[in-house]
Amino acid sequence: MDDEDGYFGERVAATYDGSTGVFAPGAVEPAVDVLAELAGGGRALELGIGTGRIALPLARRGVPVHGIDLSRAMVARMRAKPGGEEIGVTIGDFATARVDGTFSVAYLVFNTIMNLTTQEAQVACFGNVAAHLEPGGCFVIEVRVPELRRLPPGQNVLPWRVSPEEWVFYTYDTATQAMRGNYVSFANGGGEYSTIPFRYVWPAELDLMAQLAGMRLRERYGGWKREPFTSESTHHVSVWEKSA
Ligand SMILES: C[S@@+](CC[C@H](N)C(=O)[O-])C[C@H]1O[C@@H](n2cnc3c(N)ncnc32)[C@H](O)[C@@H]1O
Repeated sequence: MDDEDGYFGERVAATYDGSTGVFAPGAVEPAVDVLAELAGGGRALELGIGTGRIALPLARRGVPVHGIDLSRAMVARMRAKPGGEEIGVTIGDFATARVDGTFSVAYLVFNTIMNLTTQEAQVACFGNVAAHLEPGGCFVIEVRVPELRRLPPGQNVLPWRVSPEEWVFYTYDTATQAMRGNYVSFANGGGEYSTIPFRYVWPAELDLMAQLAGMRLRERYGGWKREPFTSESTHHVSVWEKSA
């Protein structure tokens, strides 16, 4: 781990764009549609803005966006893109970092709430967001439903992607909700291993965190196209509203 940039140092930042399905054609627009609608002419705060995958197209829709991120390397990649210099960024931990002004929407996408590896930090994140939202403002999270049902019986290791180019597998500690991503990429006859710690979190647990922060669930979808959220959903897009 790069101490300054967390788990998203220069090596990750250099290959981040295009690395997974969230960069597939058509994957970003539905998210931007939902967020632009919730912004409703106000400002948007992105927690974990990264390389600007969502922030840049949202800003192009006319929504003023500010970001928080720990990683200067990731933010530098956004800065190098058209429009990237115009987006304000605060370097810091999104569970605690404060930004001037208030926002009509805050959002934390692509499972990034799980980068906070304790329940305490996840609760603090909701409190921090609530402090930045206008009354009636919304907090949006996109995150996986913990996939414990997919674990082989009696096992705590879930193979995720296995190909000649890479192996990705996740490990789960159901006692603590600690989870770990394990990534092996192969090139030139050798393999390179990296790992990231996560904390998986249940939808109902997120609702309670929101309640503690003075927000209530407004909508929960199975995806950015507002698909129904069901017991078979693999992830959810949840919208909590701060009390007016
Ligand atoms: C998976 S990337 C997502 C980036 C972007 N939101 C996207 O959807 O492409 C996670 C980002 O969150 C940042 N991050 C992770 N934990 C953080 C924390 N506690 N505080 C601030 N940034 C954090 C990382 O540096 C990284 O840029």
